[in-house]
Formats: sequence, structure tokens, C-alpha cells
Amino acid sequence: MFNLKAHNSSSLNGSIKVPGDKSISHRSVILGGLAVGETIVNGLLESEDVLHTIAAMREFGVIIKKLDEQQWSIHGRGVGGLDEPKNALYLGNSGTGVRLLLGLAAGNPINAFFIGDNSLSRRPMRRVTTPLEIMGARFVDRSDGCLPIVCSGPKHLLPIQYELPVASAQVKSAILLAALGAAGKTTILEPEPTRDHTEIMLKQFGAQINIKPFNKGGREISIIGQPELQAKTIHVPADPSSAAFPAVAALITKGSHIKLRNVCGNSLRFGLFEILIKMGANIKIDCCDNPEGEKIAHLEVKSSSLKGIKVPAEIAPRMIDEYPILAVAAAFAEGTTIMLGLKELRVKESDRLRAIAKGLAACGVKVEETIDSLTVHGRGGSVKGGALIEANMDHRIAMSFLVLGMASEKPIEIDDSTTIQTSFPNFYELMLQIGCKLTIPGAIK
Ligand code: S3P
Repeated sequence: MFNLKAHNSSSLNGSIKVPGDKSISHRSVILGGLAVGETIVNGLLESEDVLHTIAAMREFGVIIKKLDEQQWSIHGRGVGGLDEPKNALYLGNSGTGVRLLLGLAAGNPINAFFIGDNSLSRRPMRRVTTPLEIMGARFVDRSDGCLPIVCSGPKHLLPIQYELPVASAQVKSAILLAALGAAGKTTILEPEPTRDHTEIMLKQFGAQINIKPFNKGGREISIIGQPELQAKTIHVPADPSSAAFPAVAALITKGSHIKLRNVCGNSLRFGLFEILIKMGANIKIDCCDNPEGEKIAHLEVKSSSLKGIKVPAEIAPRMIDEYPILAVAAAFAEGTTIMLGLKELRVKESDRLRAIAKGLAACGVKVEETIDSLTVHGRGGSVKGGALIEANMDHRIAMSFLVLGMASEKPIEIDDSTTIQTSFPNFYELMLQIGCKLTIPGAIK
């Protein structure tokens, strides 16, 4: 356990590549484990969350090796070919890891026992186990549906048609992974589109997956089960959710100009940058298509005077992880920012809505919180700061308030910054590289 302190910084400068996308990294390890042959993954995010997924995949009998600084090799077992794990699968802090692997396990006639840390053991899992039960899997869980959970996959899983009751890429992906083991066509109706990395990668591996419009703006996703997936070379682009931290740091500190290279440019992940540009942010985006997989974007960000705006609920699925850092940007903006449709923030790594509201108030920012919205009264550039923030095992809360401390009058300290390792292992080094003043209290004067 270690804590970090952020001090007023200026003139952030440089061109950096933040680590690989977390969502795409999890999926590359999982789908590589189901393919026939050797999958090579370039630029995998080597964070705690992804390392837990790798450890779990090894328990399922998949051979995974790190080849060098850039590449990992995965020898898949084929769809339906996973071993029964001998040990409990510990997914640490990772909701994506556990939910996707519940779907994966359900598609194999094996038993698997899932556990996680205190934060993960409080998060809802019935959203995943309910559709998997309809497909024929069986679960033993706690009375509140949280971890620990035992999953028993049936011999013959049934394909289903299922409309998602919550906008969740994790639930969609769990069903898609299970559906690979079912004989026939599974259809998922998604009223609001969520990140589609699983669909894109399934196509890359040769699965028969079909996507059509559904209702107003939604999607109908169908997949044919029991395919033979072909091993692939995957290039993991940088994570836009991690790029968000240096980007907002550059916006709110004076005289800054940074470049963020090779970021995943998937539009279903770009809600934050769209909103920041509407708030007056000087962000240039150079995005290119990539017929093989995910779009790539290069970003150039300069210090900006931001203006408060209304952030509609419809955009939430496209920036669900970015509200803590958006709230920090809003605190430095002129005027009020109203963010709607935030119910899901209550069941992330922590109750993020509570954590943002409490943290901003401690920094001298006026906020109003309802069950599913947040109003931030911007301070037009001058935020007091000077608070000790509890991270509550939530990496994005820790990094967001450190960014706030880079532009506030008084420094911000995070009680436990270890949690940053779950998604952005070199956060400290990269932020120092562009000129942020971060210290480890007690270690650096
Ligand atoms: C993720 C989906 C989102 C997001 C999480 C990663 C994924 O969760 O918050 O960090 O990789 O599928 P939900 O599916 O719960 O919205």
C-alpha cells in the first residue's frame, strides 16, 4: 500500500502513449484461449486486472507466455475445450474479468469457483448469472448475488434471445462468450449501444456474428455457436479511459500542450472527448480506420478555459468510466455542469457518484448529488483542494483526484494509490514525464 500526493503543476508537455486498452486486453486473452493455434498479442495491458484474467485462463488449461517486452503468446484450447480449474479463480478488483469469465465458464461442462477482493465482492453479478441460467448454467452464490460464486456449465448449453435490462458491455460479452458453446443462434438486443470490442474481436477470430439496428439507436447482435475460432495477431491500442487523465490534466493546468498517441478510437469509448470539446476544450483528434480491428486516434490537447454544460443520459454508456475525471474538469469550468443517467456509477469499483461528490466537496467545490445525477458548480479555474481523498479500492477515483491536485491551490493526497495498478501501472512515471508534480509522501521531499 502506498499513497501519492499531487501538487500544483503547469506547462505539461510531451508526447506519450498510455498503456494498452483494458477491455481489449481482457478480450484478447480470453478469445485467444478459445482459438485454435497461437494468438500473438502486441501491447497487452500488463495491469493487475488483466494479470488476474491471465492467471484464470491458465487455470482453464490455456498456455500463456510473455515472449518479450511487446508480445504475449496464447495457445488456445478451442471452443468447449477448457479444463476444469483446480483452484479458485481470484479476479481481484476486476468486474470485467469476473463477468466475462462467468460467461466463458458457463459455455463449458465444468465447475469453476470465482472470488474477488472486497470491492469486487460487493458488486452485482445476477445481471450476468440470470441470462446464463436461462441458457442452462447453474450458479451457487450469496443471497445478494455477489461473489463468491460457483458456476456449473451444462453439457448442452441453449442459445437464447435476450434483451439487456442494463446497458452493459460486460453482460453482453458474458452472453456472447457463453453463446460460443451453445448449438445454434443466440441473439442479444441492446437498447443502448455499449462498447463493442467483443463483437469486433470475435469477427477478427472468424466467428459468425451479425449486427443490425434495433429500436431507436440500439443494436441486435446475433452469433452462431460452436464455431472454430482461428488464432490471430492482435494489436492492442492505448486505453482512452487512461488517456483521459493526462488529457484533463493538460486542459486544467496553465501553458500545457501534450500529445497522446495510438489511442483506441472506437466511438463507443469517446463520449468524454466529445463532451470536453463541447465544453470548449482545445483537443484535436486525428482518427484513422483500421479494417482489421479497432480505429486508432492521435490526440493533441492544450490548456483550455472550459464552460459547464448539460451531459445527457444517452451518452453515459459511451463514457461510463469517465465521469470521475469529467467531474474534475467540470470543477475547473466556468458555470454549472449537470450529468444525468449515472445510476450505474453506484455499482462500479466503488460508489463513484458518492465518491466524486464527497471528494469535490472536500476540495471546496459545490456539488449536488441525486440517486442518478450530479451537478458540479464550476469554480472557473480556481479550486481550493487541500484534501485527503479515500480511494476506496477505486483506481479511477484515485487518478481523478490526483489530476485535480495538479491544478488546485493546495495539494491533494490519496490515502491508498495501490489501486492504480489495476488499470494504469505506469501512471506515476508517465505523469512525471509530462511534468506533473506527484510525490510519494515520506519518500520524496
Ligand atoms: C467494460 C464495461 C463497462 C466498464 C468497464 C469495462 C468492459 O462496464 O465500466 O470498466 O470491458 O466490458 P459495464 O459493462 O458494467 O458498463
